[in-house]
Amino acid sequence: MTNSTTQTTLRPVRPSAPATADICIVGGAGHVGLPLGIVLASRGQRVLIFDLNKSALETISKGVMPFTEVGAEPLLKQVLAEGKLLFTSDPADLKGVPQVIVTIGTPVDEFLNPDTKVIKQWADSVIPHFTPNQLIILRSTVSPGTTDWLDRYFKQRGVNVKLAYCPERIVQGFAVDELTKLPQIVSGTSDAAIKEASELFSKIATAIVHLTPLEAELAKLFCNAYRYVQFATANQFFMIATEAGADFNRITRGIKEHYPRMRDFPSAGFAAGPCLFKDTMQLAAFAQNEFGLGHAAMHVNEGLVLWLATQMEKKFQLHGKTVGLLGMAFKAECDDNRCSLSYKLKKVLQFRATDVLTTDPHVNTDPELLPLQDVIDRSDVLVLCVPHKAYKGLDVKGKPVIDIWGSMGTGLGL
Ligand SMILES: NC(=O)c1ccc[n+]([C@@H]2O[C@H](COP(=O)([O-])OP(=O)(O)OC[C@H]3O[C@@H](n4cnc5c(N)ncnc54)[C@H](O)[C@@H]3O)[C@@H](O)[C@H]2O)c1
Repeated sequence: MTNSTTQTTLRPVRPSAPATADICIVGGAGHVGLPLGIVLASRGQRVLIFDLNKSALETISKGVMPFTEVGAEPLLKQVLAEGKLLFTSDPADLKGVPQVIVTIGTPVDEFLNPDTKVIKQWADSVIPHFTPNQLIILRSTVSPGTTDWLDRYFKQRGVNVKLAYCPERIVQGFAVDELTKLPQIVSGTSDAAIKEASELFSKIATAIVHLTPLEAELAKLFCNAYRYVQFATANQFFMIATEAGADFNRITRGIKEHYPRMRDFPSAGFAAGPCLFKDTMQLAAFAQNEFGLGHAAMHVNEGLVLWLATQMEKKFQLHGKTVGLLGMAFKAECDDNRCSLSYKLKKVLQFRATDVLTTDPHVNTDPELLPLQDVIDRSDVLVLCVPHKAYKGLDVKGKPVIDIWGSMGTGLGL
């Protein structure tokens, strides 16, 4: 192992080499896996980052975070310098690593049902490389019943491992801070798995909360679906108030003033990202579509974009106009544009306006993004899609701005 953070080549772990890592993070270059790997490494664990995305591994091995994660990069450089991180894309390197944490993506499929084959395909690719008595911790958000199914699947194939399910409940972008400040839900299919997973997460979490695998799987989906429903409530109230000619943001400020029960009431705005819709959908599919509240939330949150386009059409007669979208990430101060509703608005407006220009100070994966000033100069009307701090007090050169969030101080603009 080299202690340098300036090396330019990946340091693979040879399949034939004796296992040197304490923990392997599968999907370790991702938004959930990487911060966890870094935090565990900072607590003295030797962590093997296993990911199929070789270019992300290359970036990380140079001490550079591939995405925004508050406080992660200095810690990454530190653990690299201490020789606590190893990298691989070869499943054979799982062999002999005592603990394996799985954080791969778990999307919904074209029928909006959980894509269960993701976990099965992963299991099939690694089963030949398991070592008896390894602890396998599922951390991806999974459809309820997946952990017990995987336990049976392993047993049917004669795989003798311990299996736990320990969901991730951090806010994306703040994992380094939150991993050490939040309790960890731990479940498992055997006492040994529960004990070992609890000991592992005790190294970083403030407390361990024990549930059964099914309870833990539902708990994770409940957390995300509840948040999604809360956002939908604010968005529906916003549309009701606006249609009635009332100022939703004034109402919100009014109901929160000296009234603690409404303290956590969210603002209106685009509620999206890689998890909230997907996990509400996973819960709906699990409940045989008997999740009316979840479906209503999807209807409202996704529908807000269409409602907004229609209001803009009425006010600005978009034909012949150029619309500028400020913010393409899925939330503020974030560089992740996965499942961002800004792109849905862009698509809808492209059929109504002459041109749609987009900008974002954080997103660096979209070649169509333009500099902010270009978008302001060339647009007839602007939409604040994401309330990034960079847009506070922005000089929009007198152009009309639509601001659902109420964060620019210019009013709603509709
Ligand atoms: N992003 C969040 O804030 C968040 C929070 C809680 C839970 N989750 C859940 O965690 C899981 C991962 O989400 P994410 O946002 O980190 O996704 P991500 O796409 O950022 O990361 C997943 C990583 O897994 C890698 N990968 C995919 N298949 C692989 C395989 N077979 N072997 C090795 N590596 C593989 C990908 O290359 C990628 O780097 C999902 O189930 C998600 O719902 C995400």
